Amino acid sequence: MIPDDFKQQLLNRVDIVDVIERHVQLRKAGQNYVARCPFHNEKTPSFSVSPSKQFYHCFGCGAHGNAIGFVMEHAGLGYVEAVRELAAMVGMTLPEQRAADLALHSRHGPDLPQVLLQAARFYKDQLRHSERAIGYLKQRGVSGEIAARFGLGYAPVGWQSLAEAFSDYKTSAALKDAGLVIDAEGGRRYDRFRDRIVFPIASARGTIIGFGGRIIDAGEPKYLNSPETALFEKGRELYGLFQARQGLREHGRAVVVEGYMDVVALAQHSVAGVVATLGTATTPTHVEKLLRLTDEVIFCFDGDEAGRRAAWRAVEMSLAKLADGKRIAFLFLPDGDDPDSYVRREGGHAFDAQLRGAIPLSEMVVRELSERSDLASPEGRARLLHLAKPLLAQVSAPALSLLLRRRLATVAQVDIADIERLFGLRRAAQSALGATSAHPRRSAPTLMRWLLQAIMIAPQLAVRLERSLLDPTDRYTPALGAVLDLLAARPDITPRQVVPWAMEYLQDGAITSVLREIQSDLMSAPQVDIEPEFSQAVAKAQQQSVQRRLTALRASEYRTPEEQAEFERLLRGLSRAASEARLPATPLPSGV
Ligand code: UTP
Ligand code: MN
Repeated sequence: MIPDDFKQQLLNRVDIVDVIERHVQLRKAGQNYVARCPFHNEKTPSFSVSPSKQFYHCFGCGAHGNAIGFVMEHAGLGYVEAVRELAAMVGMTLPEQRAADLALHSRHGPDLPQVLLQAARFYKDQLRHSERAIGYLKQRGVSGEIAARFGLGYAPVGWQSLAEAFSDYKTSAALKDAGLVIDAEGGRRYDRFRDRIVFPIASARGTIIGFGGRIIDAGEPKYLNSPETALFEKGRELYGLFQARQGLREHGRAVVVEGYMDVVALAQHSVAGVVATLGTATTPTHVEKLLRLTDEVIFCFDGDEAGRRAAWRAVEMSLAKLADGKRIAFLFLPDGDDPDSYVRREGGHAFDAQLRGAIPLSEMVVRELSERSDLASPEGRARLLHLAKPLLAQVSAPALSLLLRRRLATVAQVDIADIERLFGLRRAAQSALGATSAHPRRSAPTLMRWLLQAIMIAPQLAVRLERSLLDPTDRYTPALGAVLDLLAARPDITPRQVVPWAMEYLQDGAITSVLREIQSDLMSAPQVDIEPEFSQAVAKAQQQSVQRRLTALRASEYRTPEEQAEFERLLRGLSRAASEARLPATPLPSGV
């Protein structure tokens, strides 16, 4: 866990404009900066960055967030990794990282990435000198250009070839910890990779974290991989991700295959955005990582039984990860083919055509469950629903959930209402639809919404808004209340901190979606003194709160003497206030 005060210091110290400018060319436009959105393809810029509010928002695709969010989305990093990266940018070190770094450093001397990079250079250099290795790659259709792009190398035949690249070969602890050498009994040390084509495995940022090595002719094992190390965790990493990033963005999709050679061969045939799992089943982390970088993930499996089983595991695991607006699909190649053999025979265009015909996740669910149940009989159809229930329970994306329920209802020949009753689902999921789509539904602006926007622009005004004035029936009230809580806990907060902090601390679904909805208004809010309008808005909130209380008292069948007194007092006050208070005169930012 990252301590709160660290997070706050970090958000205070980084400037989102600096962070984004490292990756995207920004142009000043009024009080904000604009650019073509790095998260979707567009010709005219609709991506805005607000230096005063420290967040970004794309009017085109709805992408938005604070500095931490940007690094996560843009580099496809997890939360902690993103915080670490930002911290490094401003010269801060995560408290836990500090301890870990110290321990690692004292054990290894120079760090692991450095050692891995040095080894990769050595292998690459060796490839140039090995006709055998070059011949093998040529025979598999790999050009020099693609070999260079993936940094392919060759580990020579000898037992201690790496000694040529590392003068401290015999003693270096880092070589061992990087998984490059193996210490045999008797203290003899030898290279892990010998006489193999070497595939460097890089992190999303391009740091080499491990290697895969393929035997050149026949032999066992066909592939040898680096062991898991402090840097390399197979279930988290994807081979080719660094090289695929541009393609992911441009094509809006990722293709997940099984082998190193599949990635390389597809790149050779100009199929973009391809990554491979590293000899492991697809993990939730893989899916999360990819969905952060792109909107569509297509898994490519062999057409055989093992491929089907692997695909179903990926389905089960993806259900919970899929958000509306994202798509996951499955491609099964003809039996006997893998992507490498297919693309070499049929070419890149044929493979692209296959991708377009991939089966959507929802269809996979319906197909698989239909195959397991006898749909001709009522019992079989009941079984289908029984099998579907635990799967549907995992789906949090409202549109996907609705789609699946509809499809299942059709297949099981029941009414969708029956499915909802059966699965204990309420229609709530349906109404949440608008709030989570990329373009949030615009609701009529209410007074609570206006107040929420106002205090996000001018947080110092928050103290003047009493809790009792919030309208409990307004859909913006939970978010307003949460922001008031945040400000009460942090009275020293500055206007620049409000939005990024709110995004960090108010991660409740309902609140986040409201915050997201008002962001485009915040982005264009003029920097003016809103104190006069705020006073009027508070007066109006007071008036409405009195009205609500009056309505409640009026509706109650019996009033205590105290309630009766209150009722009369409120009535008198109301007639006086009516002549004084008026609506906020200047509609701001979007009018109430
Ligand atoms: P495959 O056996 O399908 O190999 O393994 P491939 O990718 O088609 O390889 P080529 O075309 O014969 O060169 C798929 C992936 O499984 C892992 C590797 O990551 C490989 O790319 N694997 C396979 C291993 O880790 N070890 C092995 O012995 C075999
Ligand atoms: Mn193959």
